[in-house]
Amino acid sequence: MRNLTLILAAALTLPALAQTPTTPTPAQTAAAAVPSADTTWWKHAVVYEIYPRSFKDSNGDGIGDLNGITSRLDYLQHLGVDAIWIAPMYPSPQVDFGYDISNYEAIDPQYGTLADFDRLLKSAEQHHIRILLDMVMNHTSDKHPWFIDSASSRTNPHANWYIWNDGKPTSDPRAPNAHKGPHGWVVPPNNWSSLFQGSAWEWVESRRQFYYHFFYKQQPDLNYRNPAVEKAMFDAVRFWLDRGVSGFRLDAIATIYEDPSLKDEPLTGHLDASGFPESNHTLTSDLPEVHDFLQRLHNVVAKYPDRMLIGEIYTPNTTTLRSWYGTADKPELELPMDTLLGFHKEGAGITNAANPTLTAAHFRKYITEAETELDGHTPLFVFDNHDNERSWDRFTTPNETFEQKENIAKIIATVLYTTHAASLTYYGAEIGMTTHTPTRKEDVQDPIGITGWPKEKGRDGERTPMQWTPGPQAGFSTNLHTWLPIGDDYKTINTQTESTDPHSLLRWTENLTTLRRSNPALHDGGIIMLDNTNASVLSYIRTAPKGARPVLISLNMTAQPQTIHLDLAAMAGIAVHSLKSLFGTEDLSTFACKDCTQPAFTTDLTLPPYASFIAEVQ
Ligand code: BGC
Repeated sequence: MRNLTLILAAALTLPALAQTPTTPTPAQTAAAAVPSADTTWWKHAVVYEIYPRSFKDSNGDGIGDLNGITSRLDYLQHLGVDAIWIAPMYPSPQVDFGYDISNYEAIDPQYGTLADFDRLLKSAEQHHIRILLDMVMNHTSDKHPWFIDSASSRTNPHANWYIWNDGKPTSDPRAPNAHKGPHGWVVPPNNWSSLFQGSAWEWVESRRQFYYHFFYKQQPDLNYRNPAVEKAMFDAVRFWLDRGVSGFRLDAIATIYEDPSLKDEPLTGHLDASGFPESNHTLTSDLPEVHDFLQRLHNVVAKYPDRMLIGEIYTPNTTTLRSWYGTADKPELELPMDTLLGFHKEGAGITNAANPTLTAAHFRKYITEAETELDGHTPLFVFDNHDNERSWDRFTTPNETFEQKENIAKIIATVLYTTHAASLTYYGAEIGMTTHTPTRKEDVQDPIGITGWPKEKGRDGERTPMQWTPGPQAGFSTNLHTWLPIGDDYKTINTQTESTDPHSLLRWTENLTTLRRSNPALHDGGIIMLDNTNASVLSYIRTAPKGARPVLISLNMTAQPQTIHLDLAAMAGIAVHSLKSLFGTEDLSTFACKDCTQPAFTTDLTLPPYASFIAEVQ
């Protein structure tokens, strides 16, 4: 789709755009260089997002399910995954494929049963994999009993659980969205637009009132100014914590409060794909109350040992990102998503969806900021998710060869697994799955792709079934009709084929996650950015805990060979006798380390195009 992350990023953080980026102080830089002995699991975690419809179908209905996930835990363990985040698998009419929940304490029959879920939890534990659930707090489905009740009258027990409004009077019955209220014709109370196109207000005849929805009209926003709503949601959180989940990814958490003034928002000057004027969401997202709410939620979760919260947060800069961690006294999120590196284009206008490019400057800036300006909090880097074109397509150009694209994907994986950040990846990224955007409107499943066609083609492209084998339906399902078509590149891009190719992206990823666990510098080391003015090559070193060796990472982000000279003594105070290649892209490992038992070379390196180089300093 036209980058949802970027639309959200633009939408949710307008006031913060005025903030000037800060430069890390020498003290911040020095602190980032120090190794840590903190063993808290999520600070080192490889988190893997599973979109359950698309991961593995165990019963042949063409839709992935929980037993399918359980059947692939060996694969995930081998891949080095510490935790899986499962996108919503609760009962849902599936308008937004699970992000419209009709019961927070059960499993959608399409995906299995609570017994299947418990079996998955148990088996995951045996595989040393934790389970994180997606908690959608901003809204429910319009088929949730709370909303059905709420919409039925103005006096029912749930009457005040959603955002209802009488509208404002109009003398023009033909005005857009005009309805006959109890006291005459009315239109919505303001100009607020839905992120998923059109007005954010929907009329309900039984109440003769409008309700507010930030997303689809089938996703009415809950009213968090009513304490009963918060209590119900916290009960749902406890329900899953009691069952044994390790935490949650909080969906769209910045949007749970709206400004009670209901004033108009400034317009962005753009029309959405349906032709409706976009408002900038400054009164409908990131209100101060969200932070108080998160502190209360954190208190609930902290009663359970070792649990954690990830937040779906989009910020335009690191200063804003930092606020989502809360403070030592009042913690909020353990890991707010850092999407600056993977999705944010420096200088992009607030509505100009744009992708970051593969440049050393971009990566250096956001890695440096994450490592030095988050007050020592662990960043969570994200390059892929179920709402955006896959990074394989966003960081490459159509005229690059497959090999170049694969090497770029290896660079991204290297950044994801060799910085000190926790990492979040999306199923299929490890094998280089590409975005398969529908080419015909009649094939589209995602509603925004239907209403927005052809300007907005929806998010189906990044949600196609996991490609397991070169066989029928890529080993995803026995059913010829899968809910989305299998990507046409599955014969070569699949786990089975790649697992036998030592140079594949899958093997690259496995090597990285293994190294990240076993190598003390990659596991616990601090980080020092090197060669900071080099426009072509990104270099950094992970400092080593006592008794271990530092690790150097150099990534050539250009299509030309690049020679670098790294004086590690001057740049990082690290004496180098030799560098031993741990591994690198094929050409480089041949070049760099013909015999890895011998000192390979000094710190003058020529990196082939798009090469990744990872070496131990000896
Ligand atoms: C999720 C989307 C979903 C939306 C509404 C997002 O942020 O990631 O997939 O459509 O929230 O729940």
